Amino acid sequence: MAHNGYSVAGLLYSVAFFLWMLHGSNGDMSYSIPEEMKPGSVIGNIARDLGLNVGTLSARKARIDSDLNRKRSCDINLNTGDLIVAERIDREALCSEKTSCILTFELILEAPLELHRISLQIRDINDNPPVFIKDEIKMEINELAVKGSRFRVLEAHDVDIGQNAVQSYSLETNSFLVLNIQSKLDGGKFAELVLDKELDREEQRELRLLLTALDGGTPRRTGTATVHVTVLDANDNAPVFSQAVYKAIIPENSPLDTVVVKVDATDADEGLNGAVTFELSRISETGRRVFALNHTTGEM
Ligand SMILES: *[C@@H]1O[C@H](CO)[C@@H](O)[C@H](O)[C@H]1NC(C)=O
Repeated sequence: MAHNGYSVAGLLYSVAFFLWMLHGSNGDMSYSIPEEMKPGSVIGNIARDLGLNVGTLSARKARIDSDLNRKRSCDINLNTGDLIVAERIDREALCSEKTSCILTFELILEAPLELHRISLQIRDINDNPPVFIKDEIKMEINELAVKGSRFRVLEAHDVDIGQNAVQSYSLETNSFLVLNIQSKLDGGKFAELVLDKELDREEQRELRLLLTALDGGTPRRTGTATVHVTVLDANDNAPVFSQAVYKAIIPENSPLDTVVVKVDATDADEGLNGAVTFELSRISETGRRVFALNHTTGEM
């Protein structure tokens, strides 16, 4: 039984293929529609394009056959001969990043059996915005970075293609960083931040700037992320004494451990870079014998 079934199927296939060879080559039809058309929208008129009248289509049981494992995305209206959209067609789901998205179907007519290939090009519409992977892009810039230093930021992605993909970026106006847009080999764009004015952590510890990615569709769609720049501290500040000269007078009979003078200094840097300790750079022999300096408190 199995062998018989197989050979009958094989024979039918051969006949179908023979007929397709006879009729297929001069009966190919191609149409082009934007994605996301409403179900029921008319793609074209099959009866007219094949030069048949509408009655012939139903008499010959015209139907659409699509590739296996795929839902039929178009259908024939036998009353009008129109090829219509049967269900939502999402270009991104069908073809993702491919620049050309073409679906093929077979139009089957019976008595006599006739097959026509229908190719349907799905055009991209700007139905997706650019998206940054993260809402907040963290960056660290050392306060010693010189003007003109460049920092690459994460790019945004847009599943649409061509002009509907990411075309440009814009950065919230600020006095330190400007944008520089670079093109990649695949045609995509990424943004670099360029230091336009040197940073000083003692004045500004961090910056929060809104970065916007724009696509080139109509209407334009945008995606945003916050660029959070932490200005890293460099040990760029020396400690500064609260007075240039400290003068002290003590009575000759002062007891041991009397505080003669307390010096004080501050350092604008942070952490270890801003921790101040005291040393005496010059002291006479007598002074060394009589006075002691507390290195951490500055008490003499
Ligand atoms: C310095 O002063 C601190 C605080 O008064 C004290 O704990 C520390 O022992 C002093 N160090 C010296 C070497 O006297």
